[in-house]
Amino acid sequence: MKEIARRLGISTSTVSRAFSKPEMVRPELRERILAMAKELDYKPNPIARAMVKGQSDFVGLVVPDITNPFFPSIVRGAEDEARRAGLSLIMCNSDGRLAKEKQYLRSLRDLNVVGVIVASASRSDTYVTDLANNLPVVVMDRTLAGSRFVQVTADNCGGSRAVVDYLAELGHRRLMYLSGPAGISTAGDRLKGFTEQCRAHGMDFTVVRAGFKIDDGYAAMKEAEPLMDGATGVVCANDLCAFGAMSRLQERGVSVPEGVSVTGFDDIAFSRFLSPPLTTIRQPTYAMGRQAVKAIVHMRAFHTLPVPTMFATELVVRASTGPQRSAIGEIWKQAI
Ligand code: RIB
Repeated sequence: MKEIARRLGISTSTVSRAFSKPEMVRPELRERILAMAKELDYKPNPIARAMVKGQSDFVGLVVPDITNPFFPSIVRGAEDEARRAGLSLIMCNSDGRLAKEKQYLRSLRDLNVVGVIVASASRSDTYVTDLANNLPVVVMDRTLAGSRFVQVTADNCGGSRAVVDYLAELGHRRLMYLSGPAGISTAGDRLKGFTEQCRAHGMDFTVVRAGFKIDDGYAAMKEAEPLMDGATGVVCANDLCAFGAMSRLQERGVSVPEGVSVTGFDDIAFSRFLSPPLTTIRQPTYAMGRQAVKAIVHMRAFHTLPVPTMFATELVVRASTGPQRSAIGEIWKQAI
């Protein structure tokens, strides 16, 4: 900027204004400044400009685990919608840790982002609510107590119910559930749907606490083995958990679905390539990402909250599930 100002014999603040508040600079002078900027290949720093203008063209997006392919698909949808609206995304990964999430939310606020989309690690923390007093906020894929932000979620409870209905139809009478982590709303809703629907069908079930990562599924399946007690279906809280559980079953020589049926939740891109391909609940991740940005754009334009969105989930039947057969239940018993 200094060089542009020196060459045109004007002040640096006039040059700066030509980029940050163009309406305050005479059109003819602005043209000369832009031409000189082009000649010198000068591009204004968007972060610095955001500081000066008090608002950037960025939308902040905080996800808990970018290594889980569920989230890149959401990010992709958000990115496409942001570009459509002339905005860019800044993505942060919180590792599902509240302290890290808060740190990122603070940084995003300080960068004067247009709005923030967050899959929060907390179900009750007030930080997000406080932030929403001053900034459009979308809570995505997780639910959080509060009314100043909008929620974009999928029907987690309904998805779990659909899995249980399907396994009941196949004749399964006893199920093992490998749950998600404590304190995460999606994990809680899926567990609720599972237990309620098992009770509705009069099915027996056991719950073992797992988590949303492959290693969690592996460890939980190991822990679940002595508790199977004739269970012929293993219902997992998400696809990665199912990947881990299937790896453990394979290690123990239990075939899927002949020995035991396995299901996941999410329908991440790799699940159909698993051997056998995974029966799961599909979440419309790309559409969820787009919807989250649409909500930010709405709040920015109208200063009102759009209605919350809960996307429907869909059962995707693949080869990891099959009819319950008692003889096959015996194979499983022998393996453990
Ligand atoms: O944290 C990861 C999980 O949260 C995903 O697998 C998806 O199920 C989401 O709710």
